[in-house]
Amino acid sequence: MKRLGILLSGRGSNFEAIADSVAAGRIHAAIAVVISNRPEARGLESAAQRGLNAVLLPSKGLDREIYDRSVVAELRRNRVDLVCLAGYMRLLSAWFVREYPSRILNIHPSLLPGFPGLDAQHQALEYGVKVSGCTVHFVDEYLDAGPIIAQAVVPVLDSDNADTLSARILEQEHRIYTEAINIVLAGNYRIEGRRVLPAGR
Ligand code: GAR
Repeated sequence: MKRLGILLSGRGSNFEAIADSVAAGRIHAAIAVVISNRPEARGLESAAQRGLNAVLLPSKGLDREIYDRSVVAELRRNRVDLVCLAGYMRLLSAWFVREYPSRILNIHPSLLPGFPGLDAQHQALEYGVKVSGCTVHFVDEYLDAGPIIAQAVVPVLDSDNADTLSARILEQEHRIYTEAINIVLAGNYRIEGRRVLPAGR
């Protein structure tokens, strides 16, 4: 059984969706550890309530690579195969990324490469796009970059504000993160340039 490591910084609804998928047998893997870099993250509490291994590693004031070394040590201790960033609001160091080649996923609330970074839903509204969505991608050392595994599109309505658009996107996030994890766990894909394609075709 493959072992997942979840990194989060906040609410943790994507973590909960993954945990629900694991519990329901939609993902055939175990959640080995849930790590938060912020003490106040609600996701950490929710992980503990579910009886999972919930670990707080505060990042405040620490140098990026020194911090990342402590995270990777925790992932290794828990024999993690696949790292899932779920609202983890920190850029990973190149060193961290090299430790888990093609084994780190992230979810972002826009159709990348549009609107990377913070407040993607707000950026989409400000820009005036008519559709937005979410993206699950492999992580490299750049912000919201890396080959795309799955995307979903949602309409942007004239009546939307950041909250209503975020809620519509979030529903799709919860769905496609499970899909993307299953693609990667099954290992039947290849990466050609930036394209993630089915293996052997
Ligand atoms: C999600 O919308 C996720 O896509 C976004 O933060 C939110 C976390 O919610 N991530 C990013 O913006 C990463 N650049 P959650 O804590 O309820 O999963």
